[in-house]
Amino acid sequence: MISNNIDFNNKIILITGGAGFIGSNLAFYFQEYFPDSNIIIFDCFRSESKFSNGNLKSFGHYKNLIGFEGTIICGNINNQNDLNLLSKYKFDYIFHLAAISDTRVYDQNIIMQTNINSFYSFLKLAKRDKAAIIYASSAATYGSLLSPQIEGFENPENPYGFSKLMMDQIAKDFAIKNTDIVVVGLRYFNVYGPREYYKKNTSSMVIQLGHQILNGNPPRLFEGSDRIFRDFIYIDDVIQANIKACTPKKNGVYNVGSGNPRSFQEIADILQKKLGTNYQTEYFPNPYDGYQMHTQADISSSKTNLYFEPIVSLEEGISNYILDIKRLHGTENI
Ligand SMILES: NC(=O)c1ccc[n+]([C@@H]2O[C@H](COP(=O)([O-])OP(=O)(O)OC[C@H]3O[C@@H](n4cnc5c(N)ncnc54)[C@H](O)[C@@H]3O)[C@@H](O)[C@H]2O)c1
Repeated sequence: MISNNIDFNNKIILITGGAGFIGSNLAFYFQEYFPDSNIIIFDCFRSESKFSNGNLKSFGHYKNLIGFEGTIICGNINNQNDLNLLSKYKFDYIFHLAAISDTRVYDQNIIMQTNINSFYSFLKLAKRDKAAIIYASSAATYGSLLSPQIEGFENPENPYGFSKLMMDQIAKDFAIKNTDIVVVGLRYFNVYGPREYYKKNTSSMVIQLGHQILNGNPPRLFEGSDRIFRDFIYIDDVIQANIKACTPKKNGVYNVGSGNPRSFQEIADILQKKLGTNYQTEYFPNPYDGYQMHTQADISSSKTNLYFEPIVSLEEGISNYILDIKRLHGTENI
């Protein structure tokens, strides 16, 4: 159990996006370690509508919440009537994770509306209740800037990254005016782990390659994948960051990565080892121009100001995750 001495029992905790990958893991963390906490999940869940890129508009899934004993409110963060359903609670903590999380959505209008406008509503709620608010920012704010990526130097290259950077600016402004409220943004790098399966083709390369191999196919990677590095971070370390963000040394936006970049090739190799296969990797040309070749979170500020210390290596993370990858293989993802 991760500790920062907060007893979350008897606290009222809002998790927006709680039917999604990170939000559902956070909900189960509180349920397991603070059984008397009062957890409210607000999520629109998965509908069948799709963006023009063919991906679903939202990835929340009831299967991520099987066993959850708290309260679920199905609502859209863009809809004031739905948000009114939250008005009867007085929150102690707000974890705001609901967003269009798909980095390849280019409908700027819907991204800005969902990711930026709705943020004001949750800041207002935090102010009303004097609740700490921890929200999801993203490494996409850095675009393809050279590694290591460090807070304060951003260059988003898609609408999603831009929307997250605007959230950071809004939070900064809010924090200046509301010094009595904890407001912390967490810039997640490449998160992987249980309960990401329902993100379909936006889930991590770990599960996607794992299922490819379990299908009896060799891992397929871009040419030069031994030179494409990402900062992968296991879900347990992301939960740690969320908990520690509740008592920051100071408000701000902080990188949440391992600080230790690894290549796509290494993921495929570790998976093959754990799954007992020995396929020759198949390579194909990378179709993307200006593809980010290397991400690496500079986590010095997160360490100093949140006491964040990632502890799960890629090998350990994949080991912990492998049974779940096997369990989900071949199951319906609808
Ligand atoms: N997973 C990562 O690697 C990663 C990296 C960087 C940032 N993030 C951010 O972290 C947060 C959580 O990411 P995740 O990986 O759990 O993604 P996810 O897609 O699984 O979770 C997002 C949740 O938000 C809900 N949602 C979407 N639009 C909504 C709306 N209009 N109203 C209400 N609910 C809505 C979805 O149903 C989903 O359950 C997101 O804000 C994402 O941008 C994630």
